[in-house]
Amino acid sequence: MSTITKTNLKRFQQSLRRISLKQGFYDTFYDHFMAQSDEIAGIFHARDMDQLKGKLKETLQMVEDALLGKPGVVLYLEMLGRIHTRLRVDQRHFEMWKEALLATIEHYDDEYDAQVQKAWEEAIEMVISLMYPETSIVDMAASQ
Ligand code: HEM
Repeated sequence: MSTITKTNLKRFQQSLRRISLKQGFYDTFYDHFMAQSDEIAGIFHARDMDQLKGKLKETLQMVEDALLGKPGVVLYLEMLGRIHTRLRVDQRHFEMWKEALLATIEHYDDEYDAQVQKAWEEAIEMVISLMYPETSIVDMAASQ
């Protein structure tokens, strides 16, 4: 499983706190993400975006508990992986997701730098590895 160092967990949480204070972070993120391709825009067509923004926010707030291996959180993230497999989300989509998220953080976090970026990258990798505990994401994409 991918992990995150204590220092980077702290950097990630501080950055998450800074962006949480800003209005519009999740709106901008999904705008960036859907602007990446017609395929992504199509996947989100007619979804309840307000609900989804709220759920993504809650999920990012769970990263510390995930690192501590809290069973409820671990099970929740596994379920999230299965939901995304059913939606036929693959590795390409995750790369675009990561790029859109990092671009949005850079825009909203006044203290964004290479270290903050690295901390987010570790946190995202950890969430993804908990979503797909049995297979690597490469296997997951190849199996579809
Ligand atoms: C680590 C990366 C990601 C995280 C943390 C994440 C998080 C979430 C969460 C929390 C939900 C709500 C699940 C529920 O309770 O119904 C969700 C749903 C969804 N996600 Fe993701 N997601 C990620 C990556 C992606 C990617 C790459 C795509 C590709 C397009 C995607 C597309 C969707 C769609 C279409 C839904 C369903 C919305 C609905 O039920 O109407 N997600 N995601």
